[in-house]
Amino acid sequence: MDDVHEKSRGKMSSVEGVPMVEYFVANWEEKQNFETRPDDLLLATYPKAGTTWIQEITDLVYSNGDVNFCQRAPSYIRFPFLEFTVPPSFNRQSGVDILNKMESPRMIKTHLPYQLVPKGFWEKDCKVIYVARNAKDIVVSYYYFGLMDETEPHPGTWETYVERFLAGKLGWGSWWDHVKGWWENKDKHPILYLFYEDMKENLQREVQKIIKFLEKDISDEVIDKIVHHTSFDSMKTNKMTNYSTLPSMNQSISPFLRKGEVGDWKNHLTVAQSEAFDALYDKHFTGRSLKFKHTLP
Ligand code: A3P
Repeated sequence: MDDVHEKSRGKMSSVEGVPMVEYFVANWEEKQNFETRPDDLLLATYPKAGTTWIQEITDLVYSNGDVNFCQRAPSYIRFPFLEFTVPPSFNRQSGVDILNKMESPRMIKTHLPYQLVPKGFWEKDCKVIYVARNAKDIVVSYYYFGLMDETEPHPGTWETYVERFLAGKLGWGSWWDHVKGWWENKDKHPILYLFYEDMKENLQREVQKIIKFLEKDISDEVIDKIVHHTSFDSMKTNKMTNYSTLPSMNQSISPFLRKGEVGDWKNHLTVAQSEAFDALYDKHFTGRSLKFKHTLP
């Protein structure tokens, strides 16, 4: 790793105890006071839970399956990232700057835990779709992403990375707190809480839930089209969803759409690491209705 490369990567900072890349903490007040609109749709996830996937699905639902319309720009332009800021050398505007100029209806990406979401979203009763994915597959996906995304702090060794994930020290903090925070507040607001594993199991069924939640009327034929267009293989070859247009991602290290599976953790976690995850699941979820699948039949 050369010096220049190292310097271009962000360092960690934190907001209210939640670790985040230092650039993202910049202008925090502006982010917290973000001016919402009643027809904003917030797409919230812990990193690597299927953000890009839910984005493409909602864009197709909003446009009644218009695949050409969804080719208008890459995902990171169509769905501005609320808390996004990078140093001037990257030559990209902040999420808030882009959103303030954007026409409604806006579809907004965030990785913020529930407690850090700007209050304006709740005051205006905005709809939110939250996608959760099991922690074991998240840590694998997050590690490969850390290797290839040059705006991220370098992930270091796999062993220390897993330890930092378990300790809630990676960007956006504890995965357990994140999924729990959204789960426990989901009935207070219009929040649709989905699971990546359910989407892998039966995408048609999950797309129907999204359509109902967004109060759209879409034919079965268009639903089939949406399911086809948002398959892993379709999105991997689609330049508007595979992040191949973003130079800060080095896809020769690892593709953004890497494997798209449930259970890839079995190829990466040792038995001891996997047991450490199980112990935290027990600690955080025993007696709660929130459950995660780690394999599919
Ligand atoms: P893997 O690294 O396990 O392959 P995010 O968009 O939140 O950064 O999440 C990226 C993860 O979602 C990657 O996981 C990526 O492959 C997966 N993903 C993206 N689109 C998908 C799709 N259509 N089907 C299944 N997985 C998808």
